[in-house]
Amino acid sequence: MKILALESTCDETSVAFLNGRKIEKNLVYSQIKIHRKYKGVVPEAASRAHSEKMAALLKKITANSKKPQAITFCRGPGLNGSLIVSAVAAKTLSEYYAIPLIGVNHLEGHFLSCEIENDEIKNKFKFPLIVLIASGGHSELWLAENYGIYKLLGSTRDDAAGEAFDKTAKLLGFPYPGGPILEREALKASKKDFSFPIPFVREGFDFSFSGLKTAVAYKLDGKKLSIGFKRSVCYAFQEAAVEALLKKTAQAAEKYKVKQIAVGGGVSANGRLREAFTSYFKGKNIETLFPQKKYCSDNAAMAGLCAFRRLEAGEFKNCVSVNADLKIESWRKKC
Ligand code: KG4
Ligand code: ZN
Repeated sequence: MKILALESTCDETSVAFLNGRKIEKNLVYSQIKIHRKYKGVVPEAASRAHSEKMAALLKKITANSKKPQAITFCRGPGLNGSLIVSAVAAKTLSEYYAIPLIGVNHLEGHFLSCEIENDEIKNKFKFPLIVLIASGGHSELWLAENYGIYKLLGSTRDDAAGEAFDKTAKLLGFPYPGGPILEREALKASKKDFSFPIPFVREGFDFSFSGLKTAVAYKLDGKKLSIGFKRSVCYAFQEAAVEALLKKTAQAAEKYKVKQIAVGGGVSANGRLREAFTSYFKGKNIETLFPQKKYCSDNAAMAGLCAFRRLEAGEFKNCVSVNADLKIESWRKKC
């Protein structure tokens, strides 16, 4: 099965071409330069940039490629104006080629990315497993019982983990997106002489990061921000954020007695998080899966992967032309 995949949920425009399990192409155009001057993503500028870039990327990816047999796009969650760009392009192409159109969930894509190895889809999951999604817009814990069968255990009550990294970096005067920069600066910290309280919601599996952000703001209040001090703040913030994610994931793993944890979303690129999760769960005989670094941030290959699993399950067997799965809504509402 040859799948053409599109992604434009936030600030990356991406198209991918999958031939069976092989990700033959995965082109990503990042809008970081556009949003950096505003210190965050500007929705109107994002949708404009997607609409300017999408056609060029599609032209590039379809040149010398065979005709796709299915087309897929992330129909949410994301910024409304940005989502429409992929939806319209994918719908148009599916009509033109007379092939099925498969709308998939962006967060499921982040999770399934853990199964990509050397640009190929492998079977790595041992269901049931616990999934942690930590991105710029979401922090969620799921119990995954099989492909497409996910139970939401908890989510953030305020900021997402990536958002907390970005906002803390912004307070420190670092450019957008703050996550990777904050990690880099934390590594350079020489003084580790203070810590922040670990944000923790007592009941259930929800997260909360706004208190940590406020604790950082109080710490900075009235201080001269030397680079050494900023690095110490980055280190202490990262330790607290990682510990908060780890604690709830560990509770979920223990409750559901799983043998695997899968972590997806932009924050899963964080080296400290990878190290902390891997060493903690190794001690519990639980395997931790992360996507390869290049598949941590938004990309279209992960949409292709979601479609691959649904096609494999026989979902679109008798669908000869267009599947009108176009509504941009949470797939959770649908299930
Ligand atoms: O999944 P993603 O690419 O986009 C969304 O779906 O939101 O995640 C982007 C988020 C940003 O908040 C970014 O700062 C964060 O992921 N991020 C990181 C790292 N790399 C990206 N956060 C912490 N450490 C990193 N190395
Ligand atoms: Zn994402």
